[in-house]
Amino acid sequence: MQTQILPVDGQSLELAKKIITNGGAVAFPTETVYGLGANAFNTAAVENVFKIKGRPNDNPLIVHVHKDYDLSKLVYDVPEYAQKLANAYLPGPLTMVYKSLGAVSSAVSCGLETLAVRIPSHTGAQNLLRYLDLPVAAPSANISKHVSPTTARHVYEDLKCKIELVLDGGSCAGGIESTVLDCTGDKPVILRSGLITQEMITAVAGECGVYVPKDGERVRSPGMKYKHYAPACRTELFAYCFKEDALEELKRQTAAGVNAFIMCDSATARLLNVDKVLDLGETENDIAANLYAKLREGEQVAELIIAIAPEKQDGVMSGVMNRLKKACGSKL
Ligand code: TXA
Ligand code: MG
Repeated sequence: MQTQILPVDGQSLELAKKIITNGGAVAFPTETVYGLGANAFNTAAVENVFKIKGRPNDNPLIVHVHKDYDLSKLVYDVPEYAQKLANAYLPGPLTMVYKSLGAVSSAVSCGLETLAVRIPSHTGAQNLLRYLDLPVAAPSANISKHVSPTTARHVYEDLKCKIELVLDGGSCAGGIESTVLDCTGDKPVILRSGLITQEMITAVAGECGVYVPKDGERVRSPGMKYKHYAPACRTELFAYCFKEDALEELKRQTAAGVNAFIMCDSATARLLNVDKVLDLGETENDIAANLYAKLREGEQVAELIIAIAPEKQDGVMSGVMNRLKKACGSKL
């Protein structure tokens, strides 16, 4: 199968609609990462998305809808705090988990009684969703466990010959996946951190928990138990306070003939004065936006990425840390 990369316009939207209504899958841009979308009502189409990605079949998908889609067709018991959060942050990088009416295929939620719903703000995503007027089940458009894609080229690298169409909407401005928020209880609980932070949710909802699975407990967001976002090369992760040790490690590895690179923010790169660096940028938003592209660049150019965690760990950096730890298989 030939894979085309096309800009989002009238012609490519028509092609995307043809593919998706015929049970196929299309990659499309969002403000977080690229998604691989299929008709959420069509079980075979949803199962095919799992197959294309090599995704474990107990890791549920998020349904994407346009901003005027009537959610009461999909979910029930939307609490007042969720309505307030939706008014404040949607469309945007916030996925909300509700009780499912069972209208979409049960393959979407892997048999769970809940449904994760997202209204992306990216114009290309909104145009596609409005053009289809369907709930679109879409995981990130990468091979399962690999680094998520933030450009059409990244999608192509992972899924060429497996899908017909990648809609190209440029580089994703957000760069890490949406915050997944459980809205089935008395208060919101973060299941996956992201660009809509605990602080932002608390400001609107009054309170916000963060789910931490206990040993042996059945995880509430099944995606959490898998290693994710991993580049094809070796990785090591150092806490910010051990950045000098990271530099020593770079020297040691280089002397041993290993092609190693440091990955850190611009200020840390200046401080350490390293030249073999995968520079994540200056601001917190830059760091989130560049993380996956730099991990993918790293696997092309390096045998070993020596990552240094950001100094700050709250707000958006909590999402970045979560991804970094998973990418490096680290418990830091
Ligand atoms: O930003 C994003 O969310 C991107 C773009 C494409 O929208 N999508 C994305 O999808 O990251 P994926 O499949 O890579 O991650 C979905 C996450 C997983 O951790 C999954 O376990 C969780 O959402 N999830 C989905 N449905 C759920 C549900 N009913 N209850 C709890 N967690 C759920
Ligand atoms: Mg993913």
